[in-house]
Amino acid sequence: IKRITTNTIQEMKVRGEKISMLTAYDYSMATIVDEAGTDIILVGDSASNVMAGHETTLPITLDQMIYHASSVVRAAKRALVVVDLPFGSYQGNSKEALNSAIRIMKEAGAHAVKIEGGVEIAESVSRILTAGIPVMGHLGLTPQSIYKFGTYTVRAKHEAEAQKLREDALKLQELGCFGIVLEKIPAKLAQEVSGSLQIPTIGIGAGQHCDGQVLVIHDMLGINKGFKPRFLRQYSNMYDIMHDAIKNYNSDVKSNSFPNEKEQY
Ligand code: KIV
Ligand code: NA
Repeated sequence: IKRITTNTIQEMKVRGEKISMLTAYDYSMATIVDEAGTDIILVGDSASNVMAGHETTLPITLDQMIYHASSVVRAAKRALVVVDLPFGSYQGNSKEALNSAIRIMKEAGAHAVKIEGGVEIAESVSRILTAGIPVMGHLGLTPQSIYKFGTYTVRAKHEAEAQKLREDALKLQELGCFGIVLEKIPAKLAQEVSGSLQIPTIGIGAGQHCDGQVLVIHDMLGINKGFKPRFLRQYSNMYDIMHDAIKNYNSDVKSNSFPNEKEQY
């Protein structure tokens, strides 16, 4: 199998071939995501929510991200593995940002890092890139800033924030990022930004004109019950499938029908 690289991703934009990205946080799930032909696997800090049960992405640590990432890297034979720099691992200064990115590359064997923000983190992005580490940007509804926004609703609906996002996107491209995630912004703005950039945009709640799409794997498989924002298309109902299987197992154990004679030594 030919490994997807940041160059492959760039060529896909030029060809107009859409880029598929999904999250994964563990070996077994990442194996399925990789074998199903996903171009990019994101070890997102959404692990804080879906794996650890926190309300926000803020609590997850760099060590925990490295643990998740190393498991995903062992599974990914084809996909490009991108890992989120978690909250608190890069905001201090550019040296801290570089050290965090180096740890992710070295200890987990990741292929690239993703970092939230625009012009404010330019120095950090630049320093990480200088070390030869590919960087993906993330603009719009950046969940690590949820306490600044105060709400998970659509960002950049008004001109001032839209203009800041355009400038941030251009800055990230100019610095050398290989792609940018656009989260929960108007489709029209995402289309405009995608058209103005040479590097690909990957949308989540940002409409059909982005160069690629990303979803959290637990959300699209329907493992999370009750999380149904408009942008989410649910491809399965895994909560119910798993729930029924486990219920059947419990019932079989209690009724003494598992294990049977063929299932023993
Ligand atoms: O952490 C994450 O899952 C993400 C995607 C939603 C883009 O950053
Ligand atoms: Na994230």
